[in-house]
Amino acid sequence: ALVSMRQLLDHAAEHSYGLPAFNVNNLEQMRAIMEAADQVNAPVIVQASAGARKYAGAPFLRHLILAAIEEFPHIPVVMHQDHGASPDVCQRSIQLGFSSVMMDGSLLADGKTPASYEYNAEVTRKVVEFSHACGVSVEGEIGVLGNLETGEAGEEDGVGAVGKLSHDQMLTSVEDAARFVKDTGVDALAIAIGTSHGAYKFTRKPTGDVLRIDRIKEIHEHLPNTHLVMHGSSSVPQEWLAIINEFGGNIGETYGVPVEEIVEGIKHGVRKVNIDTDLRLASTGAIRQFMAENPAEFDPRKYLAKTVTAMKQVCIDRYLAFGCEGQA
Ligand code: G3H
Ligand code: 13P
Ligand code: NA
Ligand code: ZN
Repeated sequence: ALVSMRQLLDHAAEHSYGLPAFNVNNLEQMRAIMEAADQVNAPVIVQASAGARKYAGAPFLRHLILAAIEEFPHIPVVMHQDHGASPDVCQRSIQLGFSSVMMDGSLLADGKTPASYEYNAEVTRKVVEFSHACGVSVEGEIGVLGNLETGEAGEEDGVGAVGKLSHDQMLTSVEDAARFVKDTGVDALAIAIGTSHGAYKFTRKPTGDVLRIDRIKEIHEHLPNTHLVMHGSSSVPQEWLAIINEFGGNIGETYGVPVEEIVEGIKHGVRKVNIDTDLRLASTGAIRQFMAENPAEFDPRKYLAKTVTAMKQVCIDRYLAFGCEGQA
């Protein structure tokens, strides 16, 4: 059944677990997420970015999610719009049938330029107003994602800020978080604590100075009733990097957000954990390996089925680690 994000996150808070929110563009990702959720009886958040709508086309994306709900009627599913660049984008998603939207006013509508607090609060408050009027949940973001050491936003695929960021911009303060929640009335709050989008988050396994889980704890202490969201939370599995590189790929040494750090965040108010890159890496590794080992095969179903198996295992691992088992 289609549910609002607020319903799921309230349930997650009450039962002390966190939900992975996986990005979807295609059938194989959708199937992997749903089969994994079905296997461990977990609720689902699927999210589509502007890039996903451009790739699949809005009607295909909408029906992909509706098909998941039809095939797995016993699983609660949130259909969330990821990183809406403007109130207009959010409004169009609501018209498409999304039950939740993210207004990302941490950046201007170009999706690249860091915005002022006033701009962010104003556009987000506006989205909360029209979304809540029709039962749709809203996620906002305060702070700009980026690597606290290098000041890089990690925008290799065009997602995120451009240019160097300041340490203050990249680390959400308790004061800003509290003020923003009060000014906007968001259902969920994405904060910046040193993560960034994509595969290149950290040059070594992150320590507490570059991945500020301590800031999550501080914010949660001040805002115990606010559902916190971690973006850029792929773990970048070293096993998948090794497979990609073994079978003809070339991805340099890089590290993601360790699952155990996310679990620590979940103990302190994190209820939604955004993951896209990990499923991309798993499907790329599975395809590279299949192609290398079966050079005469040419039926896409053969190699795409391998991507479903690979992505499904990543989803199961996250559902179990985040405490979602049996919560559907
Ligand atoms: O917001 C970040 C997600 O990874 C979306 O990426 O815009 O390439 O679909 P995308
Ligand atoms: P990753 O690139 O770490 O998977 O993050 C995805 C994300 O935050 C989508 O909004
Ligand atoms: Na989002
Ligand atoms: Zn994100």
